[in-house]
Amino acid sequence: MHNWLPKIEEALRGYLAPPDAPYRSAAEAMAYSAEAGGKRIRPLLTLLFCELAGGEPEKALPFACAVEMVHTYSLIHDDLPCMDNDDFRRGRPSCHKQFGEATALLAGDGLLTKAFETLAEADLPPDRIVRAVRILSRCAGTCGMIGGQVLDLQNETQSPDAPTLELTYRLKTSALLQAACLLGVAAAGGDETAARDAREYADSLGIAFQIIDDILDVVGDESLLGKPLSSDAANGKATSVSLYGLEESRRRAAAYTQKALRVLETYPHSGELAALTRQLLDRNY
Ligand code: IPE
Ligand code: IPE
Ligand code: MG
Ligand code: MG
Ligand code: MG
Repeated sequence: MHNWLPKIEEALRGYLAPPDAPYRSAAEAMAYSAEAGGKRIRPLLTLLFCELAGGEPEKALPFACAVEMVHTYSLIHDDLPCMDNDDFRRGRPSCHKQFGEATALLAGDGLLTKAFETLAEADLPPDRIVRAVRILSRCAGTCGMIGGQVLDLQNETQSPDAPTLELTYRLKTSALLQAACLLGVAAAGGDETAARDAREYADSLGIAFQIIDDILDVVGDESLLGKPLSSDAANGKATSVSLYGLEESRRRAAAYTQKALRVLETYPHSGELAALTRQLLDRNY
């Protein structure tokens, strides 16, 4: 599984090499945030789901990079003063601290745009590319990740009930993980059963993933996380921890992880994916 990480890094660097031009600052900011690292969970999921659906992971690399670009854009905008107002990301000053707010805004826009260019130029049949465009635009859009960010901001001023908090996580976090998995299925030309399983797996994984993120915001190690602790408390944001407490949040994250793992049971070659799923529950960054 980790053999893919250097390939993902190399491909991302290739796509995001800034032009030698007087308008290069946004592209430099894009490369700065994307190359700072990060766990690369989403591109790994794309490659692993491509394999699970019977495709060649190598062919899915552009799709994998595209979802990581959208994710990185979402983080750049998420850190802006008008959103979570966080000064560190992936172990470096956040994009707006390094380049200023206007350039950070444009870098986010640039990554979102570049993602679709990258899908369009993949060496795959046109019908698979159209399918990928539909997946990524829906999952990242106002009924996906952006919708989740809207709810997340509302959760700073209105106390969400349990279903509202769950919907927030489904949209702000599960949606892009669904995009990652579905893009893998699309690259493989997988059928509706594979797509349904990808959606179901990522839906549960995303909720578990966000609960752990909320827990780490309270009890994590800042130097490992590469982002500030107590961001949620500083913003007065309702999270799993504020709603359920640490212990119950851990229990819930474990339960959603089990739910995700159950989806994989029907796939004989899902060992790596199951291992990754378990690692994400126990992660400390
Ligand atoms: C952070 O995502 C944002 C959430 C959805 C919780 P990751 O934890 O995957 O961030 P990176 O990519 O590793 O930096
Ligand atoms: C981020 O959630 C979700 C998106 C960027 C879509 P958080 O705001 O909790 O992520 P971190 O903690 O800043 O990484
Ligand atoms: Mg946020
Ligand atoms: Mg944040
Ligand atoms: Mg967080």
